[in-house]
Amino acid sequence: MFDLQNIRSQFPILNQQVNGKPLVYLDNAATSQKPISVLDSWQKYYTEINANVHRGIHTLSQLATEEMELSRRKVQKFINAKNDFEVIFTKGTTEGLNLIAYSLTNLIKENDEIIISYLEHHSNIVPWQMLCERTGAKLKVIPMDENGILQLDFLDENLSEKTKIVSVNQVSNALGIVNPIEEIIAKTRANSDAIIVIDGAQSAPHFKINVQKMDCDFFVFSGHKMYAPMGTGILYGKEEVLNKIQPFHGGGEMIATCSFEKTTYADLPFKFEAGTPNVGGNIALGAAIDFIENIGQEHLQNHENALLDYAQKQLLQIEGLKIYGEKAHRTGVVSFNLEGIGISSDVGMILDKLGIAVRTGHHCTQPIMNFFNIAGTVRASFAVYNTFEEIDILFEGVKKAQKMLG
Ligand SMILES: Cc1ncc(COP(=O)(O)O)c(C=O)c1O
Repeated sequence: MFDLQNIRSQFPILNQQVNGKPLVYLDNAATSQKPISVLDSWQKYYTEINANVHRGIHTLSQLATEEMELSRRKVQKFINAKNDFEVIFTKGTTEGLNLIAYSLTNLIKENDEIIISYLEHHSNIVPWQMLCERTGAKLKVIPMDENGILQLDFLDENLSEKTKIVSVNQVSNALGIVNPIEEIIAKTRANSDAIIVIDGAQSAPHFKINVQKMDCDFFVFSGHKMYAPMGTGILYGKEEVLNKIQPFHGGGEMIATCSFEKTTYADLPFKFEAGTPNVGGNIALGAAIDFIENIGQEHLQNHENALLDYAQKQLLQIEGLKIYGEKAHRTGVVSFNLEGIGISSDVGMILDKLGIAVRTGHHCTQPIMNFFNIAGTVRASFAVYNTFEEIDILFEGVKKAQKMLG
């Protein structure tokens, strides 16, 4: 059974006052809060186990290795990867995308084409621009309409043997739009040999991921947006693609043999995990997955969808409030502006005084803001511990902000 009060009680941070008001935390797309089980797992590692992994013969090192590898297998199951060695620990989505873009350099040449979408976070734009600068490849962008819906005809017209990479997010962080990645992947497979990269930063926290069914080559996400500590993230890559590409970082852990003349690389996943990993964080990511699975992903998703529907219904009662992507299929995010109030941070500041944490500004998606000809939006984003009462508080807060600023 879905027991919201029990879930909330696992997040001590929520039980506090901010600016004299009960905290209403609605900035989950930026980072989620962490339950006690995750904090305990992290603390247990540092109080009882702390040792470096993989290269120690002593007991603590072996224990740390076992725990971290157990967490890798939890991630494998969580995303339904075929093999545990296809799961690589990173420090987040940004690092995962940079790793892929760098590691593909040798396979890309002048006039090859890379396709992304209009709805991308800067992390899924800039690494590809840098790859284009290194290789002379060209970046192409799937356009969107005024509802934020991607125009997939573009793929029919642009996919060809020149297309080497297609990289899109599953859910837009700025608008919460769920992109039709099944269709994007099917079109890409039918019309090119491109490597398919999915940015799952905003989808992994909200719904079931199945990378084998999806048939992507890479899937990246951040632990800290799904109840795990900051500095954790995952890069999933298909075995045959990971074996084809060059390592990102060189150093300890990622070599099989090293001499001054020549170095050979370790097997997967270690080829892509140079240096000491974030052992405590990676173990706690396993605890975050346990937390999600104990609730049940279906329950979590149903609750978050109900919150979104309710928030949208309430907010649209406010005259002059515009929700971006209102007509698109969305999850977890409502992004809006008030007519006549051009600076979203003014609204955010008033909400903060009322204890309500939202994000304002461009959300690292300046092309989307440019498309709508705005500087930013107010973004409320939900997690499993949010309540309908909190949406009511947001609703009253936005009305108050409108009165004060309008
Ligand atoms: C869709 C998307 N991609 C990439 C990122 C970057 O994630 P991180 O900052 O954890 O590396 C974010 C973060 O907000 C995001 O929402």
